[in-house]
Amino acid sequence: MKFFVDTAEIGAIAELNDLGMVDGVTTNPSLIKKSGRDIIEVTKEICDLVDGPVSAEVTATDADTMIAEGRKLVEIAENIAVKVPLTWDGLKACKTLTDDGHMVNVTLCFSANQALLAAKAGATFISPFIGRLDDINLDGMELIEDIRTIYDNYGFETQILAASIRSVNHVLDSARIGADVITAPPAVIKAMVNHPLTDKGLDAFLADIKAAEIKIL
Ligand code: G3P
Repeated sequence: MKFFVDTAEIGAIAELNDLGMVDGVTTNPSLIKKSGRDIIEVTKEICDLVDGPVSAEVTATDADTMIAEGRKLVEIAENIAVKVPLTWDGLKACKTLTDDGHMVNVTLCFSANQALLAAKAGATFISPFIGRLDDINLDGMELIEDIRTIYDNYGFETQILAASIRSVNHVLDSARIGADVITAPPAVIKAMVNHPLTDKGLDAFLADIKAAEIKIL
């Protein structure tokens, strides 16, 4: 399973990247706003840091402008994936940009039928939003399962990029189902290390190290 980091914060990306945890990065207009940076500048910095795909989202809603924006975004670096919304115009832009040979991430996916259309339009990645479905009492994980089944039934190569991940259980469930990629905020990825029995066991070992004055260096 690939790990993408869902942030435009350079420091957080660098920390995880140094540990080999970063297979790519996803950004969106809200994350760019949060960073307080210029989209082109910060995206270039991220692309310089990370080898894998870096998603940068278009701002337009009509296909022609999305395509023009996408063509500008891909000039930033070779590893840009143009992010387009799951609308009819977004699918048109997806088809044109993938035909041009660019990676496209189709975002704001909330149904399996939408995911099917994105795969037909040649999307490199489909981004189903788990957390936002859970927020309205629907089942985000059920959507990941449905898309996995449908893509496997027909051999679609579009990668399932589980997005809007809010908890470590979202990561675990996505891995169980077989999502190709998860994109999660740095805090969620870092929280995966936590286990109370690890803390308890370490406390006991530290007490014995002190009691027995065990030294290595
Ligand atoms: O990158 C898009 C997605 O991950 C957003 O997550 O938490 O704003 O629903 P969230």
